[in-house]
Amino acid sequence: MNSPNDKFKLNNGVEIPCIGFGTWQAPDGQTAVDAVRYAVELGYRHIDTAAIYGNEKSVGKAIAESETDRKELFITTKLWNTERGYDTTLKAFEKSIQKLGLEYLDLYLIHWPANKENTEKINSDTWKAFEKLYKDGLIRSIGVSNFLPHHLQPLLDTAEIIPAVNQIEYHPGYTQSEAVEFCKSNNILIQAWSPLGSGRLLQDPGLTEIAEKYNKSVAQLCIKWCLQNDTLPLPKSVTPQRIAENIRIFDFTISETDMKVINQISDLGGSGLHPDKVDF
Ligand code: A2P
Repeated sequence: MNSPNDKFKLNNGVEIPCIGFGTWQAPDGQTAVDAVRYAVELGYRHIDTAAIYGNEKSVGKAIAESETDRKELFITTKLWNTERGYDTTLKAFEKSIQKLGLEYLDLYLIHWPANKENTEKINSDTWKAFEKLYKDGLIRSIGVSNFLPHHLQPLLDTAEIIPAVNQIEYHPGYTQSEAVEFCKSNNILIQAWSPLGSGRLLQDPGLTEIAEKYNKSVAQLCIKWCLQNDTLPLPKSVTPQRIAENIRIFDFTISETDMKVINQISDLGGSGLHPDKVDF
């Protein structure tokens, strides 16, 4: 990958720009509008939001005001947990797309797997609605987020369409290798949320030492490391200087030896959010 507009190919043939601009915690209103607008100006072509972030309207405003052609952009949003199920999903999608002001979405994700009762049925009903929206041409690709193999396998057993993406927490020190291997063997692209461990990794001495060798920041090292592991990073920031920094990662390559060192870091900077335990 040599630029933010280089693409991964999803399992349905759709191409997805290799770095996404994350918008979690980008406050709705001018902050989110400015951040997304600036990101697109700088060359980000892939924007990741979610119904629960509460900023779909602002993301939509930035897209509408951008001079970049809609077809050049790749927009993702996610279905929130309270809307799971067939009919509720169709309605939630309608709301999201209206807020975004879009005619179609590039990627729609189930934000978290159901984790209380009747989980397989709920996930499968939700997925059926995703498949309908996909077949109706309203979404170019569909996927999941925070699904572990024991959530994915039952979904695959009843699905007509294999998820194109699984967006999980993924960064040095938290690599979820079982989920990653499962997805790789089923041709499901891994997207990395919190590629910087939500900032928790940035002072790590080991990562700092490696980053310095390349004259890069730890943030840039973490983002590049995701790409070199064939996962798609979604760094987020509302700070202009950092938004720019996080995309200046196409002018260096982490050596194989350093990749191995980083891959072996264990238990660092995890959020503690486990899909079977979260209570939201
Ligand atoms: P802010 O949005 O205030 O700039 P992650 O993508 O892993 O969740 O990390 C996001 C967090 O890290 C946010 O708090 C963001 O802060 C901060 N951040 C993003 N990019 C950088 C960077 N290049 N250097 C330092 N902190 C960063």
